[in-house]
Amino acid sequence: MKKLIKNGTVISSTGADAADVLIDGETIVAVLQPGSDVAVSAEAGAEVIDATGLYVIPGGVDGHTHMELPFGGTVASDDFENGTRAAAWGGTTTIVDFAVQSFGQGVRDTLDQWMGKADGKCAIDYGFHQIIGDVNEQSLKDMDALVDEGITSFKLFMAYPGVFLSDDGQILRAMQQAAGNGSLIMMHAENGLAIDVLAEQAVERGETDPVNHGYVRRAEFESEATHRAIQLAKVGAAPLYIVHLSASEALEQVAIARDKGANVFAETCPQYLYLNVEDHLDRGFDGAAYVCSTPLRTKHAHHHEDLWKGLRTNDLSVVATDHCPFCMKDQKELGRDDFRAIPNGIGGVEHRMDLIYQGVVNGEISLPRWVELCSTTPARMFGLYPRKGTIQPGADADIVLYDPKRTWTISQDNHHMNMDHSAWEGFEINGHVHTVMSRGRVIIENDTYTGSTGHGKFLRRGLSDYLI
Ligand code: URP
Ligand code: ZN
Ligand code: ZN
Repeated sequence: MKKLIKNGTVISSTGADAADVLIDGETIVAVLQPGSDVAVSAEAGAEVIDATGLYVIPGGVDGHTHMELPFGGTVASDDFENGTRAAAWGGTTTIVDFAVQSFGQGVRDTLDQWMGKADGKCAIDYGFHQIIGDVNEQSLKDMDALVDEGITSFKLFMAYPGVFLSDDGQILRAMQQAAGNGSLIMMHAENGLAIDVLAEQAVERGETDPVNHGYVRRAEFESEATHRAIQLAKVGAAPLYIVHLSASEALEQVAIARDKGANVFAETCPQYLYLNVEDHLDRGFDGAAYVCSTPLRTKHAHHHEDLWKGLRTNDLSVVATDHCPFCMKDQKELGRDDFRAIPNGIGGVEHRMDLIYQGVVNGEISLPRWVELCSTTPARMFGLYPRKGTIQPGADADIVLYDPKRTWTISQDNHHMNMDHSAWEGFEINGHVHTVMSRGRVIIENDTYTGSTGHGKFLRRGLSDYLI
């Protein structure tokens, strides 16, 4: 059955145009000039979806989520079923989650485990990055095999000593391997050993509240690790993608490298654009809801302004969520007496498209840049383009109709993530997801979920479009 989306404004990464979109089955087959002979004849025999007053955008691609992530003795509270459904509510039609190899585990075994968790559960299409928490001869070999299977990016950690941290030698080896197989190294860039010294000293002084998480994870440690990762990538001749960048000082390192022509990219997340230490983390134990790494930064500096600027200049080229939800009850509470035991993460997979759209409303970014940051570039970065991230013939019909006129307020009472709180409680949003299609199937309409568990398919990704 064909569908014709009519009367809308199609927003792409390069512009906004009145256009009709013709879908046949799961695929976009034409983008047509409204009123043209071909658009009029396309209407015959097609189900017409009226998009008057709506933006027609490629479905969101969230390149950084953690469904069911085991962390600090608990597990992220959204499973693949619930988490991908919540993503759909917010206009995200693809996620790339992380399979996790910890010390002593086989890479292949862990990928199989994560495939098993997601298989038959997802509301939207999904792929995986692989976390390499134990760089050794075997895991390096496994990286090559995974690339052939569509896992074309690998996350390493300069933080979390004894859990995920790789030393500089291991990082260099993994980068050399990536240089050989064409994959992308993603880096959690914080100096974890130095952080742990300050964290231990804080606890010895009796400073155990969540706010101390923000104090000890200093911006200098993010900037130093970002600089080090960039230098190692230069020597390893590998491209580098810095995840969840939060500090101006780290952004400066990325900008310097990019200005010199280095193949270095960075992502930020909505929490680093809107939230801060003083108003969110410094709330007694309630601040635990905002414990994430990298941490929120102080409002007495220019982090937010600098990050928005980075989004304009492309020193930040992707916005992802780092969706890693934990409930306060039984989960964040694990760290009531010691902030080091609070599971790290904020849930937000449902809100990224709306929150970054506020950047358009506030004049920080343009409409096309919104689409580029949230859909097109992540698709290109992670080897999903042109199947995802674009409205053009041949692409999957992952399409969101977005209503720029509707206003609403985010709350724990209206979100769909499995969380007993919302980091975004009370945020007033201009704009609202109206209709969501995943591969031609309407999965959200009339404020109702019409999709189904298991509709989402595993995406075998290609190499990043940005690698040279
Ligand atoms: O706080 C965070 N970011 N939790 C998820 C794990 C990670 O480092 O991305
Ligand atoms: Zn990380
Ligand atoms: Zn993460």
